[in-house]
Amino acid sequence: MKFGLFSKLYTGLDIGSHAVKVVLIEKRKKVNHLIGWGISDYDKETPTDDEIAMSIQKVYQDSDIPLNRCVWLGISGYSTKVRIVKFPKMSHDELKSTIEWHLAEYFPYPKDEIYYDWTILNTSQEAQGSQKETLVAVVGSKRDLVDRLIDISNKARIYPAGINMIPMALYNTVKSIIGREAVALVDIGAKITTVIIVARQIVCFSRQTEIGGDSLTSALVNELRVERNDAENLKKEESKLINVDTDNLRVFKACQSIFTEILTEIRKSIAFFESESSYGRVVKILLCGGSSLITNIDKLVSKSLKIPAEIFDPLKGIEVSCTKDGEELEKIAPQLATGIGLVEEIWKEGRQ
Ligand SMILES: Nc1ncnc2c1ncn2[C@@H]1O[C@H](COP(=O)(O)OP(=O)(O)OP(=O)(O)O)[C@@H](O)[C@H]1O
Ligand SMILES: [Mg+2]
Repeated sequence: MKFGLFSKLYTGLDIGSHAVKVVLIEKRKKVNHLIGWGISDYDKETPTDDEIAMSIQKVYQDSDIPLNRCVWLGISGYSTKVRIVKFPKMSHDELKSTIEWHLAEYFPYPKDEIYYDWTILNTSQEAQGSQKETLVAVVGSKRDLVDRLIDISNKARIYPAGINMIPMALYNTVKSIIGREAVALVDIGAKITTVIIVARQIVCFSRQTEIGGDSLTSALVNELRVERNDAENLKKEESKLINVDTDNLRVFKACQSIFTEILTEIRKSIAFFESESSYGRVVKILLCGGSSLITNIDKLVSKSLKIPAEIFDPLKGIEVSCTKDGEELEKIAPQLATGIGLVEEIWKEGRQ
């Protein structure tokens, strides 16, 4: 491979609870090119750290991505937090000390047990002079979670350049391709569903809940008395899980309470955003993550929440410059959304 003088290569490595996803992006001037990608499901439901490291090595080998390219990891889950906080306009130093002073309100852990960072969200898009408020993303994670992630990647001979919060990575993928109206992006993974709401191209809301495709699989195992692998396959069979015209299907019934929980989470997030902000109503829901590949899930979401929903294509705005499995890439692209967003660094202000 030969790259131009101004090109830069970045790897987004999304170590999920069900699968490892990797993307290699080349930044040529202002256009991002997808150079390589790969996905590898774990063999087991709960892999050990060594097994996760082996899956990482496997996905790199299979996708032919060099191991030592500038790698960004993603982090999410119970002991991580993304807080979108409004502050009155103040200097950078005042902001820094105000955030430090209020840290205990944002994160329910002692300061010496977390890593945290922050960035101003509304500087570039909104005219700074006319803004009375500064919108800041304050993010943090328990140190042991970050340390474990680094340890796993080191075991796979990956030495990350940085770690980004998954809600912020999702924001990166969506912000430049939507308009100013409020849009919700919902990543339905295996164990976690993340909802972010972006309005005027600024992330205004972020929430994560511990529910996702694994809960659907467990529901199928319990209700239909099938093996876990069969339940996984059943989910992936075209039109089996959700058939919007005949909602009484046996398989759908088994999953109905989990779908209801996921829909309730999305509904609650949107209702909270709409009650708190002056950015109007959410006009569209975009779905990504592996569980967005469930046939008809967009129709189920639109019908239940009465907001147009569609499957998000994170490749919009990116040149696909790899020849590997074009058809497959098109199909699974929503599952790569986090990995693609990870390569965009946005942190400037808060570095500790
Ligand atoms: N074609 C498909 N149809 C239905 N479900 C699918 C399909 N492909 C993957 N899934 C489901 O998507 C989930 C994995 O998605 P994803 O890779 O986004 O999760 P993850 O990032 O590993 O998990 P998390 O974000 O919760 O840590 C699994 O529950 C898997 O069964
Ligand atoms: Mg995920």
